[in-house]
Amino acid sequence: MHQSVLVTGAAKRTGKVIAQFLAAQGYHIILHCHRSKHDAEDTLREITAQGGSGNIVICDLGDYDAVETMITTLGAQTPPLRHIINNASLFEDDSLLNFTEQSFQRHMDVNCRSILQLSRGLHRLIPDGEEGSICTVIDNKIFAMNADFFSYTISKYALSGATEAMALALAPRLRVNGIAPGLMLLSGDQSEENFALSRKMNPRQKPTEVTDIARTALYLIQTESLNGAIIPVDSGQRLMSGDRDIARLAADILKETP
Ligand SMILES: NC(=O)c1ccc[n+]([C@@H]2O[C@H](COP(=O)([O-])OP(=O)(O)OC[C@H]3O[C@@H](n4cnc5c(N)ncnc54)[C@H](OP(=O)(O)O)[C@@H]3O)[C@@H](O)[C@H]2O)c1
Repeated sequence: MHQSVLVTGAAKRTGKVIAQFLAAQGYHIILHCHRSKHDAEDTLREITAQGGSGNIVICDLGDYDAVETMITTLGAQTPPLRHIINNASLFEDDSLLNFTEQSFQRHMDVNCRSILQLSRGLHRLIPDGEEGSICTVIDNKIFAMNADFFSYTISKYALSGATEAMALALAPRLRVNGIAPGLMLLSGDQSEENFALSRKMNPRQKPTEVTDIARTALYLIQTESLNGAIIPVDSGQRLMSGDRDIARLAADILKETP
C-alpha cells in the first residue's frame, strides 16, 4: 500500500492497536504522540518487526501553531499521507458546576479543534483527482447523553457535529466518518473492580474490544460510499438507559466513592 495513515495518540492503548492493525494491512503508519515518545518507539519497533513500516511525529494537539506545523511538514511524507485516524483525546473529570476556562478550552482544543486543522491540512495536501479520508474517534455518549466528565462530553459532541460538517465541507476530496466507542479500557480514576463490572454493562454482557475499533477504522477507510457516518461500536451499551457515565453507574452498584 503506497499510502500513509496518521494515527493520533498511537503510542499506546487504542491508538496502538489501530496503528498495528492498519500496518498489518499494508499502510505506512505515522505514529503521532505527545508525551509517550518511548511507548511510540516501542510500538514502531513492534510494527517493523511484523514487517510493517512507520515513523513517529510528536505534537501537542492543544497547541494551534504546533498542529499547523505538523500537518504542513507531513506534506513531504512518503508514501503520501491520505488518511487520518483522530484517536488522541484528553479525558479529565470536571462538571458543569466546577469547569474552568482552562479545562473547557483544553478539551475543546485537543478533542475537536486539532482535527479541524489536520483535516483542512490534509485537504490542502491531496492533489486534484486523488482522495483520502478522515476517521474521528468520538464516544458512544453522543448517542446517550450524560453530564459526567462535562468538558470532555461537550468536546465529543462538538467533534460529532464537526464530523458531519467536515463530511460536507471537505467533499469530494475527503470522506469524513466517525466511530463512537463504548467503554473499552480502564480510564481516569476507575478501579479494576469498577472496570470489570462496567465493561459488561451492555446488552451483550461482554466487553467491547479495542480490535473492533481498529477493524471499523479500516472499514471506514476502505468503504467509499461512507461519508458523514458515525458508527457506534459499544456492544449496544448506548441503548440501555442511564443518566450517568457507565463507570459512575458501576460505582453506585459497588458503593464506591469517587
Ligand atoms: N478508553 C475507553 O474505554 C473509551 C471509551 C469511549 C471512547 N473512547 C475514545 O477512544 C479514543 C481512544 O481512547 P483511549 O482511552 O485509548 O485514549 P487515551 O489513552 O485517553 O488517550 C490517547 C492518547 O491521546 C493523547 N493525547 C492526550 N492529550 C494530548 C495532547 N494535548 N496532544 C497530543 N496528544 C494528546 C495521549 O498521547 P501521549 O500519551 O503521547 O501524550 C494519549 O496516549 C479516544 O478518542 C477516547 O475518547 C475511549
